[in-house]
Amino acid sequence: MTNTLNRAWTMAARPIGEPTQDNFAMKESVIPAPKHGEVLIKTLYMSLDPYMRGRMRSGPSYATVLEPGDIMTGEVVARVEQSESQKYNVGDIVRANIGWQEWAAVGAHNVNRVDPNLAPISTSLGILGMPGMTAYFGLLAVLKPRAGDTLVVSAASGAVGAVVGQIGKINGCEVIGIAGTEEKCAYLINELGFSHGINYKKQNVSKELSSIAPAGIDCYFDNVGGPVSDGVFENLALKSRVAICGQISQYNAAETPKGPRNLASLIRTRTTVEGFLVYDFVLEHEVARSRIATWIKEGRLKYKEDVVDGFENAPTAFIGLLNGKNFGKLLVKVSD
Ligand SMILES: NC(=O)c1ccc[n+]([C@@H]2O[C@H](COP(=O)([O-])OP(=O)(O)OC[C@H]3O[C@@H](n4cnc5c(N)ncnc54)[C@H](OP(=O)(O)O)[C@@H]3O)[C@@H](O)[C@H]2O)c1
Repeated sequence: MTNTLNRAWTMAARPIGEPTQDNFAMKESVIPAPKHGEVLIKTLYMSLDPYMRGRMRSGPSYATVLEPGDIMTGEVVARVEQSESQKYNVGDIVRANIGWQEWAAVGAHNVNRVDPNLAPISTSLGILGMPGMTAYFGLLAVLKPRAGDTLVVSAASGAVGAVVGQIGKINGCEVIGIAGTEEKCAYLINELGFSHGINYKKQNVSKELSSIAPAGIDCYFDNVGGPVSDGVFENLALKSRVAICGQISQYNAAETPKGPRNLASLIRTRTTVEGFLVYDFVLEHEVARSRIATWIKEGRLKYKEDVVDGFENAPTAFIGLLNGKNFGKLLVKVSD
């Protein structure tokens, strides 16, 4: 090993509102030596996800929040470079929650083996990883769509949304995607086979939905909240279902808006609204992963990755994610 330095991105200061470069600091340390039962892993791809913004915020959370100086939270796909465990050999590919860093020594029980024969290894952070699981269970276990249902998904061209819409199609739904550019909407229709794409930055979501789906929306997979979701809520059908997956429109808000909105309309439509976390279904993830891998092999599921080259570019890419700059699952390529 010629290089002996590990680089990590830490949260330098808690952001108020939109994060800036000043909220991040690069820290260098010596590459650790693995102890008995550990493996030394080298990051190949690092995942950037909206939930990381939540970890930077203080206050109640379902997960541990970051303190200034902590390494940014996150999952990587990595190669085993040295093994002090019988479970793994040098060269094995694994997934691990080591945060934004290039190297780590971790207990073998804290890494998950990645099968490179299933699909390119980067997908273990996207369609075959946490975002793919989120889409699968949020749709099939929470929304439970029926053939013929009209399904709306927001942040539709993203890591979660694109998979939701395509699995919705496999299940016989009419799928409407909402996204933030013409290019993203064209991709939804032309590449992924959605019935409609609505550009929420140019079009009025409520009016568009009432003309596309006059009978109403049966299932809404909500990734964004805010004004986009207000427009969908105005068009819900009788006995409709809403899955609250994410509220990205609020993640940079200095103060979270008080109270849910538009609840009166839910009385008329007898709508069920349910929040969920991908980890609620952790025992079933392997089954979902192999079903998704089969659909990819059969050409029924497509995926798009937005790969940013270079560990040093992680903060810029993450800030862009919260502004819709990514197009597909956002990854940082850290090493070959
Ligand atoms: N519940 C869970 O367990 C769970 C697990 C994973 C993810 N999530 C949530 O799922 C959502 C999607 O995550 P992802 O990984 O698939 O991210 P992503 O869609 O790949 O990227 C985020 C996208 O959100 C959109 N966006 C940003 N600000 C917005 C705003 N103010 N209004 C509307 N859209 C906005 C942008 O696309 P546009 O260009 O279309 O605006 C951006 O590209 C996030 O809210 C995330 O927190 C939840």
